[in-house]
Amino acid sequence: MHKKIIALALVPPAPAAFVHPGLLHTSADFERIIPKVETLTEPWISGWYKLTNNSYSSSDYVPSPQAEIYRGDDGEHTQNYPSLYRDIAAGYNMALQWKITGDTSYADAAVSILDGWSSTLTLLGGSTDAALAAGIYGYEFANVAELMRDYDGWSSEGLAAFIDMMAKVFYPISHDFLVRHNDAEIDHYWANWDLCNIAAIMSLGVLSDNETMYHEGLDYFKNGEGNGQVNKMIWQLYDDVDGQTLGQGQEAGRDQGHALLDFALLGPIALTGYHQGEDLFEYQDNLLLAGAEYVAKYNMGQDVPYTTYTNSDVTQDVISDSGRGGIRPIWELLYNHYGVLKGLDVTWTQQLRDLVVEDGSGAEGGGSDYGSVSGAFDQLGHGTLMYTLEAI
Ligand SMILES: *[C@@H]1O[C@H](CO)[C@@H](O)[C@H](O)[C@H]1NC(C)=O
Ligand SMILES: *[C@@H]1O[C@H](CO)[C@@H](O)[C@H](O)[C@H]1NC(C)=O
Repeated sequence: MHKKIIALALVPPAPAAFVHPGLLHTSADFERIIPKVETLTEPWISGWYKLTNNSYSSSDYVPSPQAEIYRGDDGEHTQNYPSLYRDIAAGYNMALQWKITGDTSYADAAVSILDGWSSTLTLLGGSTDAALAAGIYGYEFANVAELMRDYDGWSSEGLAAFIDMMAKVFYPISHDFLVRHNDAEIDHYWANWDLCNIAAIMSLGVLSDNETMYHEGLDYFKNGEGNGQVNKMIWQLYDDVDGQTLGQGQEAGRDQGHALLDFALLGPIALTGYHQGEDLFEYQDNLLLAGAEYVAKYNMGQDVPYTTYTNSDVTQDVISDSGRGGIRPIWELLYNHYGVLKGLDVTWTQQLRDLVVEDGSGAEGGGSDYGSVSGAFDQLGHGTLMYTLEAI
């Protein structure tokens, strides 16, 4: 008996359960991108210039970590969450520039952002909107750290301290939100609230090699009670005139800014799952594609079918045209995966992708390229550089 236990203890550890880096980007992505940038090949080179011209891309960037971050008016504190989302956008831009050029001045700048926040931040507060901060900035910040984890100038203590900060400051809010929803009716919170917290929990699970946490997010996406569960998020399917399947989203009758935000979050959720061996893109007959094509078609000015949406708070008889045609750099991810890699019909996703990149730059940008308020930082962007795949 005793001998057996000792023998077991000597068995080498099982191979790591998670692929690293394995959130939005893998090593294979950088192997594809680097030669394209080096040989000035389009469209990657336009994406690269979009990144290097971004106002958050200089290695001289000075981060401003705060002990307490507030999002939403609690009647007492000043809302200071822009300092968090700006530093995350800068951290992501630095991480990409280091990965692509090997220039360690960018790596050091990214690490100073990560270390600065992990040694300073103790609280995310404000109104219930703190759950949006935990979700959106949680998944984005985890992505910055995931890209930097193999930099030999970042100590293992640095990564551990960052994970510890995320686990103490961000994760409890995301977890509590999915479990309790501030004690609201289960259909009260719009889908994006669940989705950003699903993304955050999955991402922190991968970053910290915590399978329990990763599966908590993944299981909520598949089986959760709230509106972020994928069949509540994309809840009504239609056979469109040209044989396509369109899927009405939970926020279609609310406004298009949020209807689009849902796909800014669904893309990263699906890609993270995909990189970890679970194809959420093809889940339920490509359900996310049906939803993306629906929202893209409507935002390209076309008519789409609509079914009255009702929850505990509202009844919405018509699709909302508020914010219609909104520009978010979120389409390259979906276009390339479904259209180029899988060869599926991405008519409207492609058209909206084209519209976003036809701003003269030929590429999706990132933080600050589409405004200075929070919506411009709801997604990390830079999709033309990072997601473009070679047409087969
Ligand atoms: C900015 O973009 C232009 C092309 O649009 C490029 O020629 C220039 O080198 C870029 N600047 C930086 C700092 O990357
Ligand atoms: C993994 O995450 C769960 C929460 O989902 C937590 O309770 C647990 O302590 C974590 N495990 C480790 C080893 O940190």
